[in-house]
Amino acid sequence: MLDLTGKNALVTGIANNRSIAWGIAQQLHQAGANIGVTYLPDEKGRFEKKVRELADELNPAFYVPCDVQNDQQVEDTFATVAEKWGKLDILIHCLAFADKEGLTGDFTAIPREAFTKSLDISTFSLTRLARSAKPLMTEGGSIITLTYLGGVKVIPNYNLMGVAKAGLEMSVRYLAAELGGQKIRVNGISAGPIRTLASSAVGGILDMIHHVEEIAPLHRTVTQIEVGNTAAFLASDLASGITGQIIYVDSGYEIMGM
Ligand SMILES: NC(=O)c1ccc[n+]([C@@H]2O[C@H](COP(=O)([O-])OP(=O)(O)OC[C@H]3O[C@@H](n4cnc5c(N)ncnc54)[C@H](O)[C@@H]3O)[C@@H](O)[C@H]2O)c1
Repeated sequence: MLDLTGKNALVTGIANNRSIAWGIAQQLHQAGANIGVTYLPDEKGRFEKKVRELADELNPAFYVPCDVQNDQQVEDTFATVAEKWGKLDILIHCLAFADKEGLTGDFTAIPREAFTKSLDISTFSLTRLARSAKPLMTEGGSIITLTYLGGVKVIPNYNLMGVAKAGLEMSVRYLAAELGGQKIRVNGISAGPIRTLASSAVGGILDMIHHVEEIAPLHRTVTQIEVGNTAAFLASDLASGITGQIIYVDSGYEIMGM
């Protein structure tokens, strides 16, 4: 029943084979979706090379450089979507950033520059991408972002990213309210801790994973593919009645009080 054949999906946030976005791209592809990939450009083109080597097996319709802090690159990304596909059905927002000083030490010590940069990349970017996706989602659509429990409850070291995720989760609700009239659904997946490039920047990721293994009802953490399966569901017509929600894919950890 889960069939995304003929659907066009723009996937942001693939950095390497551990990326959650990579798990999502694979599962969307397996369900039949056409994939377009963005990557964070760097001077030597190393990210692009890595992303292409990884994602070529999914036969992406295009690769485009897209630093979400760069409005021109965002516009060029959606111009490519318009040119190659004409319409967009699925937008995967799977990226975040915080300087090290925002992910350790005293919360009161977070510098203004680190705060604004993190919220620009991790939070505002969802709204920025949704703004450009909106006119291309002519047959409705599904926008999916990635969040974490640290945006709702205090998690050691998550600090600045917790504020960014709280803003992101509220953005999901406001965007869902605005875009529902256009049959565009907006949801977040709150994933359990997974070892990735980004999560390794958060102090004690392995401790977080071990804690989940001990406490969570399923006694293990989740995989990128499990998150990808939920993204495929949310992207599909099976989830046609779901918008503005944060769905936990965390082995049930979130329900535990003690
Ligand atoms: N790994 C976890 O435990 C976990 C848990 C819950 C939620 N998440 C969220 O999942 C998402 C993906 O992270 P991940 O863990 O797969 O790590 P990752 O390092 O594989 O992905 C992060 C991505 O963000 C991209 N990025 C950073 N700055 C950018 C910018 N300015 N413009 C465009 N892209 C930029 C990077 O290129 C990278 O592809 C993030 O939103 C993260 O907060 C991760």
